[in-house]
Amino acid sequence: MASTHGAEVLVASNRGPVSYEVREDGTLHARRGGGGLVSGLSAIGPDAGAVWVCAALSDADREAVRRSHGGRRLSVEATGGQHVRMLDIDATVFADAYNGIANSVLWFVHHMLYQTPLEPVFDAEFRRQWASYEAYNRAFAEALAEEAAPGAAVLVQDYHLTLVPGMLRELRPDVRIGHFSHTPWAPPEYFRMLPDDVAGQVLRGMLGADRLGFLTRRWADAFEACCAEFAGGLGGTRVGVHGLGADADFLRARAHRSDVAERMAALRDEIGPAADGSARKTIVRVDRTELSKNIVRGLLAYRQLLDDHPEWRERVVHVAFAYPSRQDLAVYRDYTAEVQRLADEINSGYGSPTWTPVVLHVKDDFARSLAAYRLADVALVNPIRDGMNLVAKEVPVVSDEGCVLVLSREAGAFAELGEDAIAVNPYDVIGTAQALHEALSVGPEERAERSKRLAAAATALPPAQWFLDQLHALTGESGAAG
Ligand code: F6P
Repeated sequence: MASTHGAEVLVASNRGPVSYEVREDGTLHARRGGGGLVSGLSAIGPDAGAVWVCAALSDADREAVRRSHGGRRLSVEATGGQHVRMLDIDATVFADAYNGIANSVLWFVHHMLYQTPLEPVFDAEFRRQWASYEAYNRAFAEALAEEAAPGAAVLVQDYHLTLVPGMLRELRPDVRIGHFSHTPWAPPEYFRMLPDDVAGQVLRGMLGADRLGFLTRRWADAFEACCAEFAGGLGGTRVGVHGLGADADFLRARAHRSDVAERMAALRDEIGPAADGSARKTIVRVDRTELSKNIVRGLLAYRQLLDDHPEWRERVVHVAFAYPSRQDLAVYRDYTAEVQRLADEINSGYGSPTWTPVVLHVKDDFARSLAAYRLADVALVNPIRDGMNLVAKEVPVVSDEGCVLVLSREAGAFAELGEDAIAVNPYDVIGTAQALHEALSVGPEERAERSKRLAAAATALPPAQWFLDQLHALTGESGAAG
């Protein structure tokens, strides 16, 4: 099965670096995705001939695959010339694997999101979906086996693809396999909720890799503890930690383009001035509307702040951007509705003709997110549990006058930023309100100093270096990190 002309470096992830939409005239339009992996892979340049294997996520993606001879080596301008192979996996199999298993089971396990009196229920429906997850992982393993040159390096991403390393190892014992988890990893006492055979399959699948990467030592330790308890240890697989940082050069340049300036002006209008004409303070949050992000408790904490410290009324605005995510899942739709309802309730209960306490936007707009970063006095990042949380790293880098970061101790980013942030227990709404008060009260000098240190820590490992470190560690080239 080995190809003599295959790629030397391959990346595999569910969501690829490009997505398509069908225009009214029937033509396909490609959109480049963002994120650390896209900028990381660009570090090796188009000449490296890397291949990115991903899934078709929409009907337009499937159409693009059909028009490109089965999606093989879809060469995409939007990815800077890198080759993309998009897999047109049967839509039902894909939905079972992505919505059913990856997002409703593995995501819930690693973020510890279950309301356990009623869920999870591992029944016949779960078993049917698990078979789809296996088939979906097999489709990736087979495509990678076909595309890889002898001895190639294959970098598999995330909880969608936990079985790929083991499957690929069987198909292609010659290739070097890395796997990187962008999520937390569950501690053994939570991970053991999975049926024993499924838990074993996930761990053995991952251990098919030569090397596994995690965002923090905490998640790596949790994985190792699961392996010690349920898989007889790591075998020969190495484990490393790579704390993905913010891309300072890109962010600073992008945040100073004219569309961002326009959005800053619009946001300033929405925020409005305080009664004495001074600028109102802003508490900014930007998230996908994701259960683990804890947006609802963030709003409750803000309301508590207005109760406990009425002196902030009319003088502060909570700028909350909650962008759509995983809307195929009812629990995400319900959560989105609750965020909207609570924001409305705070605005009608506390607002005045001259003051809207919560400015909530739900339509994804990257330029507007950067505008909010620049205006932020306080950044609120309070996830229940989060692999890293790049927003916590991005706001200090972009904010014009430095910001104070209120940060959950359960975010991976806390390991690097905790010292200069104000720490919160994400479940403690009163404590979070107090932290918001403290953050709003920090003087300009201390704020600028803290923000500078936060930005330095946040940019310690830019995406390009993050990617290269993993590649070198896998292939044993110099600069390798264990
Ligand atoms: O690891 C989490 C992750 O896969 C990230 O790569 C990304 O931020 C997020 O989840 C995106 O989720 P989805 O592809 O389901 O929108």
